[in-house]
Amino acid sequence: MQATGKPVCIRFRCTFGCAVVPLHVYDASTIDALIHPFLVYNSVIYTVSGIKGGSGRSTTAANLFVFLEKQGRKVLACDADEQQSFSYFMEVRQVLPPLQVFGEDLLKKLKPLIGQYDDIVIDCGGRDSASQRAALTLADASLIPVAPRATDRWTLNAVYELLDKAQGFNTKLQAFLFFSRTDHRGMNGSAVGEASDYLRPDTAWCRFVPLPIGNRVAYDKAMGWGQSVLEYQPTDPKAIAEITSLFTHVQQAITKK
Ligand SMILES: Nc1ncnc2c1ncn2[C@@H]1O[C@H](COP(=O)(O)OP(=O)(O)O)[C@@H](O)[C@H]1O
Ligand SMILES: [Mg+2]
Repeated sequence: MQATGKPVCIRFRCTFGCAVVPLHVYDASTIDALIHPFLVYNSVIYTVSGIKGGSGRSTTAANLFVFLEKQGRKVLACDADEQQSFSYFMEVRQVLPPLQVFGEDLLKKLKPLIGQYDDIVIDCGGRDSASQRAALTLADASLIPVAPRATDRWTLNAVYELLDKAQGFNTKLQAFLFFSRTDHRGMNGSAVGEASDYLRPDTAWCRFVPLPIGNRVAYDKAMGWGQSVLEYQPTDPKAIAEITSLFTHVQQAITKK
């Protein structure tokens, strides 16, 4: 965490009431280090998964990571894809590298960390891998970007099969499929309509979210700078609006449960 230098207050709550202690000499990072050992988080685990390369998983994971951090949440980034796009993103961003959890190691490495973060974001590779299966057995939410194109749609049966198996083990899992990299015609019209024919009817835990992510230059450019579209300049208001709507929807659905 970066030191902000801002004076902060800690509010202590106990059976006798509340005490507010101003700590003008400390910055936020010092406070974090002091209280961290005593904090236990109710970690929300997000995976970004699917079985088609290039559908926008790493881009979604990177934007979700920033979206959650901007809320002041303590977020652990995990890269479960040997392609390491999420790791490169963090390197360009010049922050701590994500925890790399390739293959069957995932459960062993990740389980002890649950409870130390508000959120854990796992970028899964674009195939049915041991790490994707393991990640799904832990996840509260799986975000699945689907490009509304034939080759992506052909993978959907396998995606549903994988999700069904995971849900058999992990009944808290909720899956959110959404269209990603839609072109402008598709955003409003026939491409999205046509692709939705291939989607399975929603169930209580596996839903199609009609909040598409457009194919926009800003996503690629922002990634290259280690940024989310929420940070990237010049701003792309449409990208910001759509990514915020999607993540807010998922976050609220998880919290409501
Ligand atoms: N919404 C989007 N608009 C434009 N380009 C995108 C978008 N999402 C992803 N991309 C680009 O598509 C490529 C693949 O995206 P990536 O997130 O790496 O997919 P995956 O992780 O599923 O393989 C990258 O070059 C990325 O910058
Ligand atoms: Mg990727």
